[in-house]
Amino acid sequence: MSLQASQRRITAVDIAGRKRGEKIVSLTAYHAHTAGIVDLYCDFILVGDSLGMVMHGLETTVPVTLEMMILQGRAVMRGSSRALVVVDMPFGSYEESREQAFRNASRVLKETGAGAIKMEGGVPMAETVAFLVKRGVPVMGHVGLTPQAVNTMGGFRVQGRSGEGQKLLEADARAIAEAGAFAIVLEGIVEPVARAITESIEAPTIGIGASPACDGQILVLEDMLGLSDRVPKFVKRFGSLREHIEEAVAAYASEVRAGTFPGPEQVYQPKKS
Ligand code: KIV
Repeated sequence: MSLQASQRRITAVDIAGRKRGEKIVSLTAYHAHTAGIVDLYCDFILVGDSLGMVMHGLETTVPVTLEMMILQGRAVMRGSSRALVVVDMPFGSYEESREQAFRNASRVLKETGAGAIKMEGGVPMAETVAFLVKRGVPVMGHVGLTPQAVNTMGGFRVQGRSGEGQKLLEADARAIAEAGAFAIVLEGIVEPVARAITESIEAPTIGIGASPACDGQILVLEDMLGLSDRVPKFVKRFGSLREHIEEAVAAYASEVRAGTFPGPEQVYQPKKS
């Protein structure tokens, strides 16, 4: 019989049970070292497909592949031990059929060890979400501004500004919650709609640009650390890492040029005989 791990990871079921309870805290992470820090304070870590834009400098998340998500998902699992790890399903890996979605979602769970996957989309994806959940795949939904649909949305636009848009968003969130998603990310949604959705569905809502009415919040780590060049209105910079990194890199460059780095403390010497 194997020994139990001393600390149990938070599960998708734990997150589902937090509806209307203590706020759910989450950030993205793509690397083992940042995952280790986020793990100390967050309930779940999202290995978001935003890694395509943040790590790789892509214009959108559309070109991100399943292999990229699996590689970074493994790194985040190695770096963390407490938080639930959720891995994004990239564009093209789940929309074609329920079978395609199950095949790729099961690869993500098996090859990373993560506890859940996230997929974008509302009413048209509900049947797929139900298919996966019934077969043992915990699914986090994502409605509102869905970045993988940037080419059909015509840009990254705030959702729910019109009465018609509000009805569609509510229908999307309800369909995904009823299909069995354990939580739903609401992205780029005006406050009254985010509030109405949060009050009317049983799955916890996780807001990003969707007001404090949600049951929890998520941000892209590099945005809140002040590492990204441009940050949208909904991001608060809790740090100014870009300045710190630039200062350190400039100091290193000037010491190398001046011949003061490496100094005596950084130099290996032969053993004294
Ligand atoms: O990819 C991502 O980082 C996300 C969050 C913005 C929710 O989906």
